[in-house]
Amino acid sequence: MDVGTAIRTRRSVRRYKRKEIPDGTLRDILEAARLAPSAANRQAWEMIVVKDPGLKAELVPLCKNQKFIGDCSAFLVAIEDPSQRWSRVDAAIMLDHITLAAHEKGLGTCWIGAFDKVQVGSLLKVPPNKEIMACLTLGYPDEDPDARLRKPPEELFHVDHYGRRQ
Ligand SMILES: Cc1cc2nc3c(=O)[nH]c(=O)nc-3n(C[C@H](O)[C@H](O)[C@H](O)COP(=O)(O)O)c2cc1C
Repeated sequence: MDVGTAIRTRRSVRRYKRKEIPDGTLRDILEAARLAPSAANRQAWEMIVVKDPGLKAELVPLCKNQKFIGDCSAFLVAIEDPSQRWSRVDAAIMLDHITLAAHEKGLGTCWIGAFDKVQVGSLLKVPPNKEIMACLTLGYPDEDPDARLRKPPEELFHVDHYGRRQ
């Protein structure tokens, strides 16, 4: 799958088949995160890959009861380092690499921003000097969602100066 196709056809997936991801496939997907660009190449992020079914079930109520978290194959928790200015951006870029790499391999993802940082951090033993930026569900899709609408280009792009549309 070329990058353009991956970008156009990726969707947030919120229904998953209960199925393990082969180690090699997971390794390839995580490699796409490792290769992501970062400010000054500092790679100021870390990730917890939650595979344990019991832990995933415990995470559901800490993530606004989003039940599909319990069904995904892996729950990826992106950790930022608040002492590093661009850490959050670095972490966001690497998560987005994962969404596309996973899609290319027939897996689905969904960003998870609705979660209790303190409680999830404590469950997963995140140290106090680090923070959870966002999470991703990862697994085999059990749905084929329609594309969500996007704003038209005129609402997003300016030419040369803010407010100049073409
Ligand atoms: C930072 C961020 C946080 C999000 N948090 C959630 C979430 O907690 N639960 C959820 O179901 N979707 C979440 N989403 C997914 C968005 O709802 C989704 O990307 C958007 O509606 C566009 O749909 P698409 O990804 O299928 O193109 C989040 C997306 C982003 C980028």
